[in-house]
Amino acid sequence: AQERTKEAYRPQFHFSPKKGWMNDPNGMVYLNGKYHLFFQHSPNTTIWGPMHWGHAISTDLVHWQEQPIALYPDSLGTIFSGSAVVDKNNTAGFGQNAIVAIFTHHNKTIEDAKTGLHQYQSLAYSNDEGKTWTKYKGNPVLPNPGIWDFRDPKVMWHESSNQWIMTLATKQSITFYGSKNLKDWNRLSEFGEGLGAHGGVWECPDLFSLSVNGIKKWVLLVSINPGAPSGGSGTQYFIGQFDGKTFTAEHTDTRWIDYGADNYAGITWSNTGDRKIFIGWMNNWTYANLIPEQGFRGAATIARDLKLKKVGDDFYLASVPVKELSVITGKANQLNSVKVNKNYDLSAKIAPFEGKYQLELTTAERASFSLHLSNSKGDELIIGYDKVSNTFYTDRTKSGQVNFESSFARKTIAPRIAKGNQISLKLLLDATSSEVFADEGLATLTNTFFSSAPLSRLHIKSSKPFMVQKIKYSGMK
Ligand code: FRU
Repeated sequence: AQERTKEAYRPQFHFSPKKGWMNDPNGMVYLNGKYHLFFQHSPNTTIWGPMHWGHAISTDLVHWQEQPIALYPDSLGTIFSGSAVVDKNNTAGFGQNAIVAIFTHHNKTIEDAKTGLHQYQSLAYSNDEGKTWTKYKGNPVLPNPGIWDFRDPKVMWHESSNQWIMTLATKQSITFYGSKNLKDWNRLSEFGEGLGAHGGVWECPDLFSLSVNGIKKWVLLVSINPGAPSGGSGTQYFIGQFDGKTFTAEHTDTRWIDYGADNYAGITWSNTGDRKIFIGWMNNWTYANLIPEQGFRGAATIARDLKLKKVGDDFYLASVPVKELSVITGKANQLNSVKVNKNYDLSAKIAPFEGKYQLELTTAERASFSLHLSNSKGDELIIGYDKVSNTFYTDRTKSGQVNFESSFARKTIAPRIAKGNQISLKLLLDATSSEVFADEGLATLTNTFFSSAPLSRLHIKSSKPFMVQKIKYSGMK
């Protein structure tokens, strides 16, 4: 596939930094009508480098305005991933409603590397809604106890035990800490032995509660790299109970928030009440430093609402694009009762959107089918459902530039969890990404691709004729 112009791989409706590198979303917090997104940022390189916290603000979770860098490396190290909270009761003494960031200082001197004590947790605070930041003089607040991987603190207020809880990645487990003031932390418990995937290091955890039909559960997100089902980086989740001290999972199977190759290190916003809004890094460490973007590298997924769903007697986590996305979706067109006889060509309707659109499709029956997104250069991205294996998939093997890394050309597969006879899919297509939400987010597949030209053709295919109940599509403003 041929090279494209510099901005051709710039997402239109996903956050990407103006210049330089980004990885994990960090410190997401909502305050006074603004959603803050911080992110792992190396402003002067387009590969991973000395980490800063970049900053962007949005009022609708869709339009992002990049701000000056929030946190710079200092004498204690570079600034790795972490979270932020609004300290309503001034528990830390930095001021009422201060935004307090809790992050990992990473200080990899040769001496540190020998002892393994190079990662520890620190604080910074802002009294002007994230514009300016002060690092706490007493940093680090949680020194390293002798664990090489000791990072990515996610902090939340736990009402019933009346304390802050820090969820921390500690090698291949999660360790919970408690604090009254964000400064003094007590070790509470450790989770993970014998449960979940352990093919790589555990990173970027998150703990929060969700309810469905009056039943409340705790959800623990744990990113892992490598060891994801689609290869390399991915995020598993556990559903269970948390009593202020210990997290107990209620299932033994390993589950993933997204079965695509490109949704990593995602966590949720704090200070959003019962609503849990998630955003991930739309990338994979296997090739993140090699993707063919120029001038910048990396982007975030679309912001997603997380929901707890009951299927049979079991509870699952579902993710759907935030409803605010409607601010950029154009007028929807709808087709009803479409009979697909092997091949149905939607290209004429889709072409004006130049490869950036939203499409919703609901079948009338449980049948195998595939969506073929292509262009005149021969690039093709295939998204589908396979009835025999009862799985959804995205195949980017022939989607354009794939040879920058040997495993990028891959097909990713998600098991179907929903039971019904109708298959529903929502697809968000941007310049370099496809996000598929099947069965209202019970199965999701996020995958990047780098095509030689926009994927402006669309065919629905099936080996046997089948009925589609409705197809809804709209371009992105
Ligand atoms: C996850 C991660 C984190 C770490 C950060 C460094 O992608 O490895 O564990 O804090 O990236 O940039």
